[in-house]
Amino acid sequence: MNRKYRKTVIAGNWKMNKTPTETKEFMAAFKGMLPKGRWCDIALCVPAVCIPAAVRAMRETRVGIGAENCNANASGAYTGEIATNMLVDAGCKYVIIGHSERRAMGETDADVNAKVLAALEAGLTPIMCCGESLEQREAGITEEWITMQIKLGLQNVTEDKIRKVVIAYEPIWAIGTGRTATPEQAQEVCESIRAVVRKLYSSKNARAVSILYGGSMNEKNAYELLAQPDIDGGLIGGASLVPEKFVQIIEAANQPIV
Ligand code: 13P
Repeated sequence: MNRKYRKTVIAGNWKMNKTPTETKEFMAAFKGMLPKGRWCDIALCVPAVCIPAAVRAMRETRVGIGAENCNANASGAYTGEIATNMLVDAGCKYVIIGHSERRAMGETDADVNAKVLAALEAGLTPIMCCGESLEQREAGITEEWITMQIKLGLQNVTEDKIRKVVIAYEPIWAIGTGRTATPEQAQEVCESIRAVVRKLYSSKNARAVSILYGGSMNEKNAYELLAQPDIDGGLIGGASLVPEKFVQIIEAANQPIV
């Protein structure tokens, strides 16, 4: 983390878990144990049908609610899809874009890019995901792969908007597997992502962009991961479903920084 130049963001990704009723229960418990300090931004990205309950419950708090996907089009004949202005109107502040689980369902880098642009246009904070598979890591092409995803995902994102983008590095082999990247592995990739942003924009902008790590991050390993200079927070799946665990990760963001 580097609190001087950029925000620390602890974001939950509930994926396809919890009903609206369970959301209400989670939020009531979570609200009761929210740390007082303002050492990080907190986001909870929830299933679309849970957004109203989550927004209602978190209205008077500093927790921002987000969606897990959006459509890049403004409106029209896209059955089952949700536009960014609908998310804004429902009270969302964030939207996850390009999660590897959605890419596995066919989402391309071009789709990711169109969604990032639509989210920025609507005033949402896109959490743009990237990450390599185990095969790609073993073939030694992690950096090239991630560089490509970042370059394609950020196409036509202008100089004045880049600081609004949050990037999440999620190695696919670490998601839901209990196999976390080591702090050194995660730092190495997050550092190289910042270098790509620096080349595309400027050092000043690269310094201001928050880059999160995701993949089996939990209350036990969060402290060490967040201690890395280029890891500015976490995108947390499983551990964000349990208020006690999620709160401990938020607390891990309150560590002295060298
Ligand atoms: P887990 O924390 O469950 O590994 O999920 C990570 C993730 O995919 C967050 O987007």
